[in-house]
Amino acid sequence: MKRTVDVSFASLADFNVPGGAGGETLVVFSGEDGALSAQTRALIGAGAEILPRASETAKFKGKVGSSFELLAPAHLNVGRLLVAGVTPGKKTAAEAPEIDFATLGGYVMGKTNGAANVLIALDPADWKGEPASAAADFMMGVKLRAYTFDVYKTKKKEDDDKPNAVKVTIGVVDPEAARRAAQSRDAIADGVQLARSLVNEPANVLFPVEFANRAKALEQVGVSVEILDVEAMTKIGMRTLLSVGQGSAHDSRCVIMRWNGGKPGEPPVAFIGKGVTFDTGGISIKPAAGMEDMKGDMAGAACVTGLMSALAARKAKVNAVGAIGIVENMPGGKATRPGDIVTTLSGQTIEIINTDAEGRLVLADVLWYVQDKFKPKFMVDLATLTGAILVALGNEYAGLFSNNDELAERLTKSGLATGEKVWRMPLAPAYEKLVESKFADMKNVGGRHAGSITAAQILQKFVNDVPWAHLDIAGTGMSSPQTDINQSWGSGWGVRLLDRLVADHYEA
Ligand code: BES
Ligand code: MN
Ligand code: ZN
Repeated sequence: MKRTVDVSFASLADFNVPGGAGGETLVVFSGEDGALSAQTRALIGAGAEILPRASETAKFKGKVGSSFELLAPAHLNVGRLLVAGVTPGKKTAAEAPEIDFATLGGYVMGKTNGAANVLIALDPADWKGEPASAAADFMMGVKLRAYTFDVYKTKKKEDDDKPNAVKVTIGVVDPEAARRAAQSRDAIADGVQLARSLVNEPANVLFPVEFANRAKALEQVGVSVEILDVEAMTKIGMRTLLSVGQGSAHDSRCVIMRWNGGKPGEPPVAFIGKGVTFDTGGISIKPAAGMEDMKGDMAGAACVTGLMSALAARKAKVNAVGAIGIVENMPGGKATRPGDIVTTLSGQTIEIINTDAEGRLVLADVLWYVQDKFKPKFMVDLATLTGAILVALGNEYAGLFSNNDELAERLTKSGLATGEKVWRMPLAPAYEKLVESKFADMKNVGGRHAGSITAAQILQKFVNDVPWAHLDIAGTGMSSPQTDINQSWGSGWGVRLLDRLVADHYEA
């Protein structure tokens, strides 16, 4: 069952409230205490007269995140008039004083759910700010809200009267400028949706080779994609990554994606993702309850793939590397045993105490490989690494660990700007004692305490002097709270955050 949503811009001046049969929804915005702009007032004409009383009855104060609707308004030829608030208030996203237009777009889209034809009058008289970029952000929010993952739903529910095709027209003063500004937001929205779909796909469909194939498709937008198979990784010496996948019938892969939009020879920025297409825990097998969620244990790799797609599609002026380690963690006759000792690509050895602490093993080799091969400006890795980060931060913030204050600060700011928030956690030599091994250079788990920190501490042993940050997204990458712009289990978390980081600091 495929639903399509088509979003376009039109001139607000030609925005005729449909004169024909009703059925459409018209959305207008209202400021403090239900005040309407002159243009909005003109647009709805005589119908505007009842709005002060209607907004009073609805206790509508014009705040972002509030709205009321009139059904079959007498003076208007629309089935429904939705009046939405546009005054910054408590619900304004990102805890910033400005309106987040993406969130506003998502909110409005949610409220019009069910209409086949939606007209949205986005009049810049209603707020302060740059109209074209506001309209573009708004459009991105509409698209992100409209995303559904319904490829495996073959039947429509009897009481489901939602149309299969929705047409959204956003009326603005200068549609050409809005369309231009919207190009980059389109690229970002597509990247987020790609990441979401990768996370939502079940593990019988999205196994490592299939994930690599989907990454390969980014060649269409100009990303160069290199796939390392088991033979290539064996040759390089990625034994630790391979040790995680060796219990599975599916072969492991490592995919290196490159986008060269910056100056030739300029060192790249690098993003590394954990791509465990399914995490059973291996021989240290997980309990049955909730194990199905472990199809999302590749959300870090999905984010990196979505980000590379976004950077290329919007032709970002940056050189970027995206590297993902893709494995399936299964028990089996060839699986790694507790007590096994593996030699990493770096030469350091790890005693495997618990085969369920596998993400750090995958990342150890990929981090080392990227830093050695590409000499990047910085490395940011993303991983659904520990349940402990859920205990610490829940689903709201991702855990941030970094060896570099500037990078950490930039990530924190980009997080506030996009609503994909991160919270910095400590790294300190004292924690290293917790992962000392009797037999090898380190063991792969600490004790019960500080589980997210010991995991990050292990990753740091595979990073030399390069600025590095690790984002533990076990709480945000999947099954996070539904928001105005995300109703999907796989959230696509991190694409907007990292795109913003690049745009604000690393583009020529
Ligand atoms: N993939 C899990 C972490 C996870 C948990 C992600 C919940 C998303 C939701 C990871 O590989 C794992 O199993 N970590 C263990 C580490 C432990 C064995 C030290 C954990 O968190 O329990
Ligand atoms: Mn695990
Ligand atoms: Zn895992």
